[in-house]
Amino acid sequence: MAWLQGPALRCDGVPENSETPWRLLLLGAPGVGKGTQADLLNQRIGACHLSTGDIFRAAGGRSDCEQSPAMKQALQYMRRGELVPDATVWEMVRERIMCLKCDGGFILDGFPRTVTQAELLKQLMDSEGLGLTAVVSYALPFDEIVVRLGGRRTCEKCKAVYHMTERPSRVADRCDRCECKLFQREDDRPESIKVRLQAYEKSTAPVIEFYKKLCLLIEVQVKGSPEEICNRTMGKVQEHYSRRLGPVTAFDE
Ligand code: AP5
Repeated sequence: MAWLQGPALRCDGVPENSETPWRLLLLGAPGVGKGTQADLLNQRIGACHLSTGDIFRAAGGRSDCEQSPAMKQALQYMRRGELVPDATVWEMVRERIMCLKCDGGFILDGFPRTVTQAELLKQLMDSEGLGLTAVVSYALPFDEIVVRLGGRRTCEKCKAVYHMTERPSRVADRCDRCECKLFQREDDRPESIKVRLQAYEKSTAPVIEFYKKLCLLIEVQVKGSPEEICNRTMGKVQEHYSRRLGPVTAFDE
């Protein structure tokens, strides 16, 4: 809640498994399945799913007078499928620093998306004495991404993600968890998808190199069901973490 509503709001409690907080970044093109994986990882390790896209969508649902000029401008970039300027995104993330410092850890999805954002995040985390556990990179051919985005439906209340054919809800257009209505995102129209994929290639793909140089990058194949991919991700992160720091406790069942 604090992540979506802004710094004025406090979370009720720290997620379980907080003894060893896991701080993960999920990278990958739009539609590769980052949000789906973040949700599953959240269920397994308890760390919060923090998505910068969700902050913009939450702001977009507020009344006109509740939106700052910078946020109104950001929403226009988003609708076109373009990246929101770094300064606006960074302001939003920086003011939610309590979520990054949370003892429960975090799963960041959709941030950083440019090398500038990655550098700013590193400076902030270094200054707070926080380290990343791993950066997970997911990849999928573009034609499969277009199919995934075209069929995506999202719950307007709890943000659960479905796919019309691959991962349908039990009742058409209704969320399995909270029974609220499902909607199609504005930026999942074909013209916006094209712009988003171009923005990814130009600005976000170089972020992968940034984390490779820091020896934090783990590449995970996204073939199979979301649960299979989540198991694969957990295994790879666990392996990576043990190699760097010794035995793992947080992921042990
Ligand atoms: P954001 O909300 O971050 O969107 P995105 O990165 O484009 O990613 P998506 O949410 O579209 O896809 P996903 O990878 O999470 O896939 P999902 O799990 O939903 O950003 C939106 C916009 O906000 C940006 O374009 C930009 O304007 C702005 N923005 C946000 N952060 C920013 C930043 N840091 N800097 C600048 N601008 C920023 O899955 C997709 C579909 O596939 C679903 O239907 C799902 O059910 C299905 N699916 C998932 N896994 C599988 C599977 N294994 N098999 C079959 N189907 C699957």
